[in-house]
Amino acid sequence: MEHITLYRKYRPKGFEEVAGETEIITTIKNSLKENRISHAYLFAGPRGVGKTTTARLIAKGLNCMENGVTDNPCNKCQNCLDIDKGNFIDLNEIDAASNRGIDEIRALKDKINYQPVKGRKKVYIIDEVHMLTKEAFNALLKTLEEPPSHVVFILATTEPDKILDTIISRCQRYDFTFFSLIEMSKRLLEIAELENITIDKESLKLIYEKSGGSMRDGISTFEKVISYYFGEEITYEKTEKALGVIPKHKLNEFEEIIYKNDLKDGIEFLDSLWEVGMDVEDFLRDFSYYLKGKLLVNSLFSLEHGISIIEKIFEVINKFKYEEDKRLLGYLILYKIMNFKAEHSQPLIIKQIEKKEDKIEEVSINISIDEIKKKWKEIKQKASKKKIALKVFLFDAEISRLVKDKLYVVFPRDLGYHKEMMEKKEINEILENTINESFGVSLKIVYELNGQADNDNKSFEDNKLVNKVRDFFDGEII
Ligand SMILES: Nc1ncnc2c1ncn2[C@@H]1O[C@H](COP(=O)(O)OP(=O)(O)OP(=O)(O)O)[C@@H](O)[C@H]1O
Ligand SMILES: [Mg+2]
Ligand SMILES: [Zn+2]
Repeated sequence: MEHITLYRKYRPKGFEEVAGETEIITTIKNSLKENRISHAYLFAGPRGVGKTTTARLIAKGLNCMENGVTDNPCNKCQNCLDIDKGNFIDLNEIDAASNRGIDEIRALKDKINYQPVKGRKKVYIIDEVHMLTKEAFNALLKTLEEPPSHVVFILATTEPDKILDTIISRCQRYDFTFFSLIEMSKRLLEIAELENITIDKESLKLIYEKSGGSMRDGISTFEKVISYYFGEEITYEKTEKALGVIPKHKLNEFEEIIYKNDLKDGIEFLDSLWEVGMDVEDFLRDFSYYLKGKLLVNSLFSLEHGISIIEKIFEVINKFKYEEDKRLLGYLILYKIMNFKAEHSQPLIIKQIEKKEDKIEEVSINISIDEIKKKWKEIKQKASKKKIALKVFLFDAEISRLVKDKLYVVFPRDLGYHKEMMEKKEINEILENTINESFGVSLKIVYELNGQADNDNKSFEDNKLVNKVRDFFDGEII
């Protein structure tokens, strides 16, 4: 048997199968029921949302031999079947993108006066009508003014703004729109059931995102997934894989690495992607979109910083379009992004520990600093579970000392930002509560910055890597 793509196989055969667009469909059905179809329609809207489908259904409703003019064509009579097959003699589909000129419209006008051969009405669907030349438009306009009563025009376009007002005003206009996730999922589930396929909600969501809201693209994407895993149940992981989507947790991980400003980790991370065959450039692009989506909600970065990261990613991608080893491109981006942070990082202010402290009344705390140090890693993990950002903020934080009821937590000198974040009331509370719950005490935390000897070694390491990258690009970086 001939294989036909799913979106063609499942082009709705009746109005009840058309997803979304309920108001348009209801109005058209009513006009058919009452036999008040107008002589010209304009269907505007994006690709693959049902313009041609609806136009063909109107042709069916007007020409069904079994049910008369109907909103419920029989799908059995010869006219219905011919329309489904795309060879009904009284239905003319003209693609204005490849027939743009006045001659085509003239030819159309010559034939238009003949009565329908097999049906009640001749239906002319003119697709991408905005592509017609000016002369062709004018010729069409005259026809639209006074078409013979046995003719119905349905003009379709993805770019209604390019159509003359005089044309629009002669048509009944309907604006088709993108599908919502719910509408598309519903249709895809109907198709899945007919194809005997099990698919989960998360997969449908991912397919929807990839489709951009177009049903044709949604069905094609769905088909891609199910043919990749022929006969199997479809899960989110399989869908991610079939569509070559970069897993969310990887994007998340990368954000944290950039945030920690760790060039070495970053390079290792990109290498690990490369080792499993992921395209580093694709990854960085996806990361930009991911970051863009997160910036206004819950990114580790400020809006300004985030945008500058995205800008740098695209800048380097464009500059090294023809570079074959995309890993190196990744290294360079890392270097640039992390450089930004160094340039803009806050001046380091080490707050004087307030003198007042000594005056605070005696509090006895029944715990030793060693006990806390021993459990520090566990505490950090617990706190991060409550709020993931703490994982990053506390990554390099250590316990330094315990003075009465004050526990001092110290950060490396270059991580002033982490300290500032931890000092925020709602964030500090998370750590404080975690500690106090764990030891049954009531400690206050004080955050400090410190210089650390091994930190200098690390930046030396980083510099070696930077030099490698720089050599590769013949010193382009600086
Ligand atoms: N509203 C819908 N309900 C169900 N399926 C739809 C709908 N819209 C589109 N489809 C599916 O997408 C396919 C393409 O739809 P259609 O040809 O009607 O799109 P279109 O709006 O004319 O797009 P284009 O502008 O690209 O011509 C159909 O065969 C059908 O499988
Ligand atoms: Mg179409
Ligand atoms: Zn019929």
